[in-house]
Amino acid sequence: MKRHYKFVLIFVPMALLISCAEMRKVTYPPNFVYIEKSDVKNTMSVFAENIFEIDRVLQGAKSDKEIDRSRIIAAMDSILSAASHLDQEKTETNHRVIDHNLDIFRQSVQQARQMAQKTPPNYYLAGQLAGQCMACHKLRRP
Ligand code: HEC
Repeated sequence: MKRHYKFVLIFVPMALLISCAEMRKVTYPPNFVYIEKSDVKNTMSVFAENIFEIDRVLQGAKSDKEIDRSRIIAAMDSILSAASHLDQEKTETNHRVIDHNLDIFRQSVQQARQMAQKTPPNYYLAGQLAGQCMACHKLRRP
């Protein structure tokens, strides 16, 4: 009876630990990368802030001529520099997935930037950028 009690003492906490690890796997969809870096949040707020800025500029204009291109480009540049910062925060467990998705995302931003720089400017891709957050955020967040 005493031995059985000891078994419970060791086994139950172990089982709890394992199920917590399993829980995390379930909470995050397989294609969503979990990084435990405190400044991911800062990077993401830069992303969000500037995506809002781009939408604000685009939606506030009645025609392409009214669009302040410098604000669009500045917002994209902030996103790109925040993205390259996040790129340096690689961890062994997830860097390949983050890298891959971050590359896709950056290419989208760079393409949108090139289109916006054209004469006359084309803001179509700029307006589509918010959808590109889905590269990482699939089921989790809009
Ligand atoms: C390369 C992958 C990747 C891309 C692309 C990406 N995110 Fe994230 N995002 C993450 C990760 C990883 C987290 C952290 C999730 C966690 O720790 O719970 C996160 C979290 C967030 C959060 C929550 C931050 C917090 O305070 O908890 C917001 C808001 C966010 N992202 C917005 C965006 C927006 C807007 C875009 C598009 C402009 C975007 N993300 C694109 C990977 C990405």
